[in-house]
Amino acid sequence: MTLREEMSSPVEARDARAFPPDDAATKKVFIKTYGCQMNVYDSQRMGDALASEGFAPTETMEEADLVLLNTCHIREKAAEKIYSELGRIRLLKARRESEGKGLNVAVAGCVAQAEGAEIIARASVVDLVIGPQTYHRLPQALRRVAAGERVVDTDYAVEDKFDHLPAAEAQAIRRRGVAAFLTVQEGCDKFCTFCVVPYTRGSEVSRPAEAILAEAHRLAAAGVREVTLLGQNVNAWEGEHQGRRIGLGELLHRLAEVPGLARLRYTTSHPRDMDDALIAAHRDLDILMPYLHLPVQSGSDRILKAMNRRHKAEDYLRLVERIRAARPGIAMSGDFIVGFPGETEADFAATLDLVGAVGYASAFSFKYSPRPGTPAADLGDQVPEAVATERLDRLQALIRAQASAFMESLVGTEMPVLVEKAGRYAHQRIGRSPYLQPVVLSATAGEIGDLVTSRIVRSGPNALIAAGGEPEAAGAAPRPAALRKIA
Ligand code: 5AD
Ligand code: SF4
Repeated sequence: MTLREEMSSPVEARDARAFPPDDAATKKVFIKTYGCQMNVYDSQRMGDALASEGFAPTETMEEADLVLLNTCHIREKAAEKIYSELGRIRLLKARRESEGKGLNVAVAGCVAQAEGAEIIARASVVDLVIGPQTYHRLPQALRRVAAGERVVDTDYAVEDKFDHLPAAEAQAIRRRGVAAFLTVQEGCDKFCTFCVVPYTRGSEVSRPAEAILAEAHRLAAAGVREVTLLGQNVNAWEGEHQGRRIGLGELLHRLAEVPGLARLRYTTSHPRDMDDALIAAHRDLDILMPYLHLPVQSGSDRILKAMNRRHKAEDYLRLVERIRAARPGIAMSGDFIVGFPGETEADFAATLDLVGAVGYASAFSFKYSPRPGTPAADLGDQVPEAVATERLDRLQALIRAQASAFMESLVGTEMPVLVEKAGRYAHQRIGRSPYLQPVVLSATAGEIGDLVTSRIVRSGPNALIAAGGEPEAAGAAPRPAALRKIA
């Protein structure tokens, strides 16, 4: 699974809103999403469920009748953020009450699952704690809250929550943009020793192929051009299609046939679940974008073993070779942890070597954070904070250099860009490269939703600039923020 926290991901940035504003309904909900793309997707589905209960979205907490925090528990810092936010919300609620008005507060997501009733004990402002497996019960839970109850629902429901959550309206899909997330798998059976996911999200469950295909058709019919399949361990997805067992590779083939879709991606994967059919899909499907997030965490066999990753550094390098043979030019991305208990300078040097050998287009790196209940939290030999910080700095400098070399290598090339939204200046639009970078291009290049061939003329730290998209191209002033949002 992937979390974008210390370094923010473009995927998260473009889809962070659960749903865009709509003033028609009377009650308002403010949804704040922390953590990975799966939470972004869940927030959207909760938004859809609340819309059918008469809640309109707001982007201002001060306006809300219901504040919903969709939380992340992956590292200590992520979890602590929730409690500071709840502290601020307590003041808002007190102010509201002094004006004779109410405010309900709900905590969803992985902190809800991990801490349950503890949250209400620690932050009495909270009315409802709801875990990721029971979002379809959100409307009933809110009715109980309205009747004055405090509710904690962190069961592992036997029914499939996605079958019971309302599908998004075409209008809501369109307002979210031309690139959409689609959760196909949840949970993880890998039990990496540092990770809370198997405990907070439970064991691996795949959504049925037919439900996924139906959702993809709905998205495409509403104008979505690019779909990113999500799962904590997405390449462990398996299902049945026309009486046969199939894996993610074949699912991608079926999704490639959905009319209107132009791009597919999937995230995030475990190296051990990259099977031959999935690698072959990278060779056979042009619609599958040449970008793969494949976390390895460490380049040291000793640390990989202690992490229970169940492969060696060499296995990963051979795998990357096979993927590159199937799809030359594919951009690799990854996740790394530094300062895992017992990590020596030699172990860390092995990580730097692996990064050097792979050559990443982007990568996310984190300091190890002991999580209660995980096996690694009980290991001795914790690495001192200062050592971990210093290693993280060195690793991130290497990753930054690789990422900018990759961006630089694209200057002078032509590539298809999916036009996503208006730019900062009236003469610009923002699109997305096949490799997931934002591309600034000319507003005359195409309409939102078009795939346009663009010549890259420059690369910045976070974006590529295509011909006609240069800020100075029209000498124009920035557009007002409000206008930018509409387009
Ligand atoms: N400490 C630091 N990083 C972690 N990750 C997961 N658990 C921890 C932890 N306890 C990182 C891994 C994973 C990404 C989503 O978050 O790199 O791939
Ligand atoms: Fe966590 Fe490992 Fe599963 Fe990823 S594969 S979600 S890091 S346990």
